Amino acid sequence: MKKGFLWGGAVAAHQLEGGYRESGKGLSVADVMIAGGNGVEREITEGIIEGKNYPNHEAINFYASYKEDIALFAEMGFKCFRTSIAWSRIFPEGDELTPNEDGLKFYDDLFDTCLKHGIEPVITLSHFEMPYGLVTKYGGFRNRKCIDFFVRFAKTCFERFKNKVTYWMTFNEINNQANYNRDFTVFTNSGLFFKPGENREEIMYNAAHYELVASALAVKIGHEINPNFKIGCMAAMCPIYPYSCSAKDMMYHTSAMQKRYWFIDVHVRGVYPEYIKKYFERKNFNIDITESDTQILKNGCVDYIGFSYYMSYVVKDLGKGPNYDYDEDTDLADNPYLEKTAWGWAIDPEGLRYSLNWMYDRYMLPLFIVENGMGAYDTVQADGEIHDQYRIDYLKAHIQQVELCAEIDGVDIIGYTPWGCIDLVSAGSGEMEKRYGFIYVDKDNNGNGTLKRSKKDSFYWYQKVIATNGAEL
Ligand code: BG6
Repeated sequence: MKKGFLWGGAVAAHQLEGGYRESGKGLSVADVMIAGGNGVEREITEGIIEGKNYPNHEAINFYASYKEDIALFAEMGFKCFRTSIAWSRIFPEGDELTPNEDGLKFYDDLFDTCLKHGIEPVITLSHFEMPYGLVTKYGGFRNRKCIDFFVRFAKTCFERFKNKVTYWMTFNEINNQANYNRDFTVFTNSGLFFKPGENREEIMYNAAHYELVASALAVKIGHEINPNFKIGCMAAMCPIYPYSCSAKDMMYHTSAMQKRYWFIDVHVRGVYPEYIKKYFERKNFNIDITESDTQILKNGCVDYIGFSYYMSYVVKDLGKGPNYDYDEDTDLADNPYLEKTAWGWAIDPEGLRYSLNWMYDRYMLPLFIVENGMGAYDTVQADGEIHDQYRIDYLKAHIQQVELCAEIDGVDIIGYTPWGCIDLVSAGSGEMEKRYGFIYVDKDNNGNGTLKRSKKDSFYWYQKVIATNGAEL
């Protein structure tokens, strides 16, 4: 890969830190979600209910062990480490006027530890962990006031860490909520929950608009604070293929891609694309886009696109023309060419190359693969070793595609940070046993275990990949 390519790993605060009441932290949306399972949605509770299993409360206790864990990342040769700042550690309720110094201090120490090891922190501001106080008092991002709360949080972080962090992202996987029927996506993206009879889709578009405005304001302020900042958006990229070469399937694919990726269009271009404006009109949606918002969006375009890549989807025309309105719950088909993980996620390495090309052609901005990986059940052998060849195979196949894409297609790729470089709590299912890490953490789905860390086979493999800059896979 090119010189300075950022090899590393990615996590999010709520999925590994634990310490959910330490350093004055308030509750976040992640703190009121109980564990689900493979194929079982996580339940969102009203506050914390005694006796339920909230896996994010302790997670893997990185809050206490970050120094040792970062030393392990350094041993693998990480050039960068992507994590998030728990918003509720900095503004416990979300609407305070002044930040919580103890929370800021924690991230000062964390980033200093990374830098001491030559690891560059790559930071997401809001990764599925908005303060729960903003949900109960304001209804989350259905309320315009959340723009100001987010901007205050972003500004505080930019000012405090301006000499420690260069790469930032505003909202993690902002486009998950395109699937607005799923409680998990709208709650974790925007702190939304609904009353019966409400128009979920219209409310989602409004909330997403406020987030896009908040993001654009943050980008502008960030560049004023430090002109060297690189501030990106972050989207979940699951390319949606047409089921066949029928023109109708192809049109459906186009419309599905628009519905899932218009968020990036706004982040990058600073304007709403015509297709989505037409959609609002056709649906009679009243989205609160003011003149001043329009200006803000134009002045806060992102510097790069961060994205996660796990799988691809397929859509089949169900006779929905001429509008081709995509519904992720009903319109997806199986791809007969692909195997799936134990959680049913299609394994599609070439899809990563396709996605990189699709985004680069469309946006002409540098791309950062900030998540990729395979959740799998690992087995610890009697001698304590963990032989995770399946994980190595998955990552190797994907890195090969990244290399082809850089060499042959000429796409500008900033770096690659596989997801969950240390085992952590699954966001979607709340399981510990859906493991992504190079480092095993002794803890099961019920919260039992010593939290001891052990190196898997993939640890040594990835160490070699980084040492050879991707030449030896
Ligand atoms: C992405 C998120 O959706 O995928 C992460 O940004 C998440 O937070 C990751 O953990 C993998 O999903 P899951 O549900 O397997 O944890």
